[in-house]
Amino acid sequence: MENPWWHSAVVYQIYPRSFADSDGDGMGDLRGIIDHLDHIAGLGVDVVWLSPVYPSPQDDNGYDVSDYQDIEPVFGSLADFDELLAGVHERGMKLVMDLVVNHSSDEHRWFVESRAGRDSAKRDWYWWRPAREGMQPGTPGAEPNNWGSVFGGSAWEYDPASGEYYLHIFSRKQPDLNWENPEVREAVYAMMNWWLDRGVDGFRMDVIDHISKDTSLPDGVPRPGSAYGDGGPYWLNGPRNHEFLREMHQRVFAGRDAMLTVAEMPGVTVQEAVLYTDPARREVDMVFQFDHVWVDRGADPWLLYPLRLTTLKGIFGRWQAGLAEVGWNSLYWNNHDQPRIVSRFGDDGPRYRERSAKMLGAVLHLHRGTPYVYQGEELGMTNAPFATIADFRDIEAIGQYTQAVTHEGRAPEDVLTVLRARGRDNARTPMQWDATPNAGFTTGTPWLPVNPNYPEVNAVAAAKDPDSVYHFYRALIELRHTEPAVVHGDFTMLLPNDERLYAFTRALGGTTLLVIGNFTGGTVRAEIDDAAAWAEAELLLTNAAAPRDLVLEPWQVVVYRRVSRP
Ligand code: NOJ
Repeated sequence: MENPWWHSAVVYQIYPRSFADSDGDGMGDLRGIIDHLDHIAGLGVDVVWLSPVYPSPQDDNGYDVSDYQDIEPVFGSLADFDELLAGVHERGMKLVMDLVVNHSSDEHRWFVESRAGRDSAKRDWYWWRPAREGMQPGTPGAEPNNWGSVFGGSAWEYDPASGEYYLHIFSRKQPDLNWENPEVREAVYAMMNWWLDRGVDGFRMDVIDHISKDTSLPDGVPRPGSAYGDGGPYWLNGPRNHEFLREMHQRVFAGRDAMLTVAEMPGVTVQEAVLYTDPARREVDMVFQFDHVWVDRGADPWLLYPLRLTTLKGIFGRWQAGLAEVGWNSLYWNNHDQPRIVSRFGDDGPRYRERSAKMLGAVLHLHRGTPYVYQGEELGMTNAPFATIADFRDIEAIGQYTQAVTHEGRAPEDVLTVLRARGRDNARTPMQWDATPNAGFTTGTPWLPVNPNYPEVNAVAAAKDPDSVYHFYRALIELRHTEPAVVHGDFTMLLPNDERLYAFTRALGGTTLLVIGNFTGGTVRAEIDDAAAWAEAELLLTNAAAPRDLVLEPWQVVVYRRVSRP
């Protein structure tokens, strides 16, 4: 089979709320994106992925959609959207929409109708259930089962008017759609076709491994210290998930020019990902797995665990090997749900911020798979200084804080320590365009304060400085487009037991690339086989002075190439 176009593509993710505000209301919008398309095109990326821009009460910043076929007025209009799409296409890029169909907003007309009463024609479009047998509806513990919601509290909301509960894995304003009902599926496919007919080039599918549930909805194992049980095993990768995605493929994508589909799947295993991304099965092109961003999590959710580089390498190594023959990887450090990578695995202090951001970018992008760049990552944007819980806006941070502190008796400072390091708002501070007030993001008051480091860290400064993180990312993306070994080469992990260096090779035909990243603030010599020959090889890319004898400076990355003659 011919290689699909997205094997050599790089995707740039925009979180519209925080990207660029054109009208001074403090919230990013579509015209703001239109104004900054050259920044994105200048990086050389192939695809733009837009986080949700549909009408929404914004309970979860747009991941609660109240109308799938329109644009949120705060962001603009369908006419603005068409202009944006044209602007993206004119620059030779493609546009991928976010598809949020595990749940809708409770303000979507489907849910409003469903909620109207037990005999509503759309009652079965959502998961309505009576109280637990023998319990008084609406009283503590009477929920249909013990599942906790991802955002804290029960996953069930009581509806006094009908005396029943509806399921919401996320917030109570995000009721889960019932994919068992074929009418729901047909309505979703019709909506997807409407967007594709309008010219969009694919979808990023939000928590799409949650759509098939164990329909018996059993209690989950109680979570330690919590009143709730873990429903994950009954809603993740359920019995009909593959069937639903295959059906979606037939109804929506078959017969169209090659699109890009990427399925967000928290908890997906390598074995399952092979099935989801096997082109012969016609489900999705690639998945977002979570193993590497959960590497620094442990048994206690409110403790920070340091990164063990050997564990991280083990995870990437498993994914690279597992999808080497069949299927395809996505590669990401950042998105709107993850803390900034330079603060997480690099050093965001003034001395090494840029160098470590480049090292992390190179190590990620030179794996086999399709890399994703999240807005601001190309500037080395950092986590933000959140002082108290009042500084957070994210429903997840606030919900989990309430659950942990108010209901589980956790020390507020312990919870805050973790939220400061991991909270999703770290990724959502406004994009830093220039050194003018509010980083040029808005002329009004930003919905979330701008990171105070914007006078140094901003796009205008980065564009001017040939040594910036931005220009390094540009070079990295260009390397993917010009060196076939980056796209197709076999991956081999080196030094699996080394806690300081991340090293691997990529080999295609007679070309071999060697990548070594120093994950420490110290000087480290790479003790690899054939080191002397590599030290003499062509140095394609680095973020510090060319090393001697493979002795890497703090946070240095090197990319060497050797070509053997036949
Ligand atoms: C995953 C999205 O990325 C996240 O932002 C959202 O809160 C949940 N899905 C629920 O839609």
